[in-house]
Amino acid sequence: MNLILLGPPGAGKGTQAVRLVQDFPIASISTGDMLRAAVSEGTPLGLKAKSFMDAGGLVPDDVIIGVALERLRADDVRDGFLLDGFPRTVGQADALEQDMEETGRKMTAVLLIEVEDEEIVRRVSGRRVSKSGRTYHVEFDAPKHEGRCDIDGSPLIQREDDKPEVVRERLSVYHEQTMPLIEYYDERGLLRRFDGSRSPTEVHDHIRATVATLRLEDAL
Ligand code: AP5
Repeated sequence: MNLILLGPPGAGKGTQAVRLVQDFPIASISTGDMLRAAVSEGTPLGLKAKSFMDAGGLVPDDVIIGVALERLRADDVRDGFLLDGFPRTVGQADALEQDMEETGRKMTAVLLIEVEDEEIVRRVSGRRVSKSGRTYHVEFDAPKHEGRCDIDGSPLIQREDDKPEVVRERLSVYHEQTMPLIEYYDERGLLRRFDGSRSPTEVHDHIRATVATLRLEDAL
């Protein structure tokens, strides 16, 4: 099964990815997480990406496409993938489509999580993350002990790009550069829409049921 999670910043893509890979044995790939790791390790990719990320813009296609496609060739992706945050432009989607054709793979579905801009700002401003990448929300998904990760006890921090002015820029980039992918995948019959304003558990139940049905259909 090869799936894409699509949606605005803060829609809950990462939250759902963590849950879905527990339901289905596929590799979860987040380009945002890969880029943040590269930035914190100070690799050449991180050095190229940092200024774009800090400003709320997209890392250029000629940088990110190679990174994402290389990751898709790793051994753990043989049984399928759940892409979170890629593709984000029509150029990236074309490159992915071509690569899948070349490697004899087929996209199963594109899962669009829809949330209004106002709610996005509320969510992202309350988001806190741990060193291990686990995501919390001060109001909607609070840790057991304030400011500490439930898993490893590390202090929770706010992402640099979660500041209000950067969030507004990320939203406008989403509207301009990523939303055209909704039509792109709808035309290909791959798009499935989910109401992301519901609770994380309700969104998860809905996506899981849809993906389970797709898997059954695929097996027939
Ligand atoms: P990335 O990390 O991918 O950021 P994003 O797409 O903006 O998504 P987020 O991680 O902000 O949100 P999410 O949808 O995962 O929401 P979450 O589950 O955390 O990318 C960061 C940057 O990297 C980009 O800006 C760009 O510069 C660069 N980049 C990455 N990929 C790229 C690409 N392909 N091309 C070019 N550049 C790229 O949830 C958010 C909060 O809400 C959390 O606190 C959570 O607890 C809470 N929450 C989740 N679901 C619910 C719910 N249903 N109800 C209430 N609260 C909820």
